[in-house]
Amino acid sequence: MTRKIDIFDTTLRDGEQSPGASMNTEEKIIIAQQLLRMHVDVIEAGFPISSPGDFLSVQQIGRIAGDDAVVVGLTRAVDADIDRAAEALATAKRPRIHTGLGVSPQHLREKLHISEDECVERAIHAVKYAKKYVEDVEFYAEDAGRADQKFLERVIQAAVDAGATVVNIPDTTGYQMPEDFGRRIKGIADNVRGIEDVVISVHTHNDLGMATALALAGVRNGARQVECTINGLGERAGNTSLEEVVMAIKMHGDELDAHTDVVTRELTRASRLVSRITGMQVQANKAIVGANAFAHSSGIHQDGVLKARDTYEIIDPADVGAGSSQIILSARSGHAALRHRLSELGYTFADADFDDIYHRFLEIADQKKEVYDEDLESIVQERQRDVTAIYTLNALQVSCGDPLIPTATATITDEHGVRHVVCATGTGPVDAAYKAVDMVVSAHGDLAEYVVKAITRGIDAIGEVIVRITGEDGHIYTGRGADTDVIVSSAKAYVNAINRMIQSQRDQAA
Ligand code: KIV
Ligand code: ZN
Repeated sequence: MTRKIDIFDTTLRDGEQSPGASMNTEEKIIIAQQLLRMHVDVIEAGFPISSPGDFLSVQQIGRIAGDDAVVVGLTRAVDADIDRAAEALATAKRPRIHTGLGVSPQHLREKLHISEDECVERAIHAVKYAKKYVEDVEFYAEDAGRADQKFLERVIQAAVDAGATVVNIPDTTGYQMPEDFGRRIKGIADNVRGIEDVVISVHTHNDLGMATALALAGVRNGARQVECTINGLGERAGNTSLEEVVMAIKMHGDELDAHTDVVTRELTRASRLVSRITGMQVQANKAIVGANAFAHSSGIHQDGVLKARDTYEIIDPADVGAGSSQIILSARSGHAALRHRLSELGYTFADADFDDIYHRFLEIADQKKEVYDEDLESIVQERQRDVTAIYTLNALQVSCGDPLIPTATATITDEHGVRHVVCATGTGPVDAAYKAVDMVVSAHGDLAEYVVKAITRGIDAIGEVIVRITGEDGHIYTGRGADTDVIVSSAKAYVNAINRMIQSQRDQAA
């Protein structure tokens, strides 16, 4: 059996320190419930002395967590902070006080104005003081990433001797390289007496985009707890992302000699929940939980994934609750992807028909970044409606504006293959286009109704136009047309209505 790595979630504390990500107690409880559903081991619920809201959050989350998770309150190495944290944690069945102070030269000199000896004394005092309240005390050596290694080991030794149950080695500024950070953790694991009975925790920040790599280097070298946040939320560039660490451990558990108890199917839900509550968007290409994490865009990749998912995916999206792989239909998609999606929508075509559909698909894809299911539906329906193509609109060019006179030039082919190029003016672009069509067609109708609607998503959506015309026989004929250009949709709809009218009149005469 591999080593169990505790997942310590600090979304509600360090994550909340993300500019703009503050949450109220009610929102924190909703997130805590999700963390419990995911079986995280430790929830850092807040910094009780910092505000009444944080105090309340720690108190309430302590209440709901029961035996299912350790609940943590953060403190500085200051008695009043520890008193307040202990008070807030009184509701928790498994309370932990997380206390500590800076240990790097920068922190000692510039922030705390204390010597190394004083730092050690304060660490010992804080741990012992917290131990008066709770058995489980985690000591953090802030900015351990930039501390002198010998001094870091000395402070950690002091914290362990004072009774710390967990020692947290943060790379507070995200400065380290993974190999060096790994050596730092190994130094502690090798040189601190009694460390085998204490959990080494790693808490890394993402300033160089390496937070996950740093945390894993820590795990590889003896850490048994990783501190992280949903979506990598946190100060500046954020913290280690929970979903990345959990999935990396899942994928490389044997070589890391590690596993976690996190229910990975809940990761996507957690990510969306945190994003919705904090208003912090997840970048589309974010590992594991980004909108594009399982989306395939290029024709080569799509073909590969359709043949066997693992040609281009190392994770089954269902394992992280992200549904199934997505094939993004765009101008880069090939026949295989289009055919696959159409068949999922219930359409199969003979090769010759499919070629036409693919051609129309490419025309739309050239105008839109992404072709959605609704676009495909409209391509198919447009094709099915055009069976009676007595007249076909080949091209339409319209100029209009203020003070231009709306003018339309249309190219229309009739059923005998004769191409007509006509030009007309009108009161507006649609009127000009309809007048141009009227110059070619052999039957006329009065426009009774004209409706335009967007049938696909996005600013570059396909607009569908439905027109009803009243024929000379008094009947109403409906026509539809769809295009990304609404004037073209209008002309197509009009030609379609006229085709239906002529076809119907011929059918009646036959
Ligand atoms: O980054 C850090 O060092 C911290 C500590 C308070 C644990 O967040
Ligand atoms: Zn931090």
